[in-house]
Amino acid sequence: MAERVIEAVVLDVYGTLFGFGRLAERARAIVGDLPLLDHWRTKQLEQSFLRTILGEYVDFWKVTEEALDAVCAQLELELMPEEREHLLHGWLELDPFPEVRGALELLRERGQRLAVLSNGSPAMLESLLQHAELDTLFEVVLSVDAVRRYKPSPAVYALAPAALVVPPERIMFCSANGFDVAGALRFGFQVCWVNRGNTKLDALGKQPHFTVHSLLELVEYL
Ligand code: LAC
Repeated sequence: MAERVIEAVVLDVYGTLFGFGRLAERARAIVGDLPLLDHWRTKQLEQSFLRTILGEYVDFWKVTEEALDAVCAQLELELMPEEREHLLHGWLELDPFPEVRGALELLRERGQRLAVLSNGSPAMLESLLQHAELDTLFEVVLSVDAVRRYKPSPAVYALAPAALVVPPERIMFCSANGFDVAGALRFGFQVCWVNRGNTKLDALGKQPHFTVHSLLELVEYL
């Protein structure tokens, strides 16, 4: 690691900094054991890929709404308007994983500049980071909305070196999502896969520079 010069750490948001536990609880309280959240997240990402390929951008809030409606239709589930609203607002009130704050503070103490780069819309990211009181830790909050394309489009990753004025090879990009790891590697970042679920990486056979199980492990490397 000694020869690696990392000037900034850029992090994915959903699944990497924030878990879905609280949203799963909301879903369970409304629909019981139906696997609504798993289907919802899968549909949300599928729609983001499809909209990027087709050049039919709408922001991630809209994608999230449309995905929920599509999944409810598939599951033949009729939500009350207030239940739908409650589930959607769950995306603004997710909990960060337990080590996140401490790890980010340590990274900052070690002189790392911090940013997030997410599919989330600017309003979603602002609400989420403020709700978790993590907003002050980041120098910049980057949303795909600026380029109207979703991950893993290279245009999205290009937002980070442009905003930080740091070349990609001096940026450590961290994500728990395989498609994001694949996109970030292809773009030329140093990449850390945050393997939170002890799973196999699905990143088109590409290997990240680091694999950790929590962000605190990453701190040891930087
Ligand atoms: C994000 C999705 C990929 O935050 O989790 O961009």
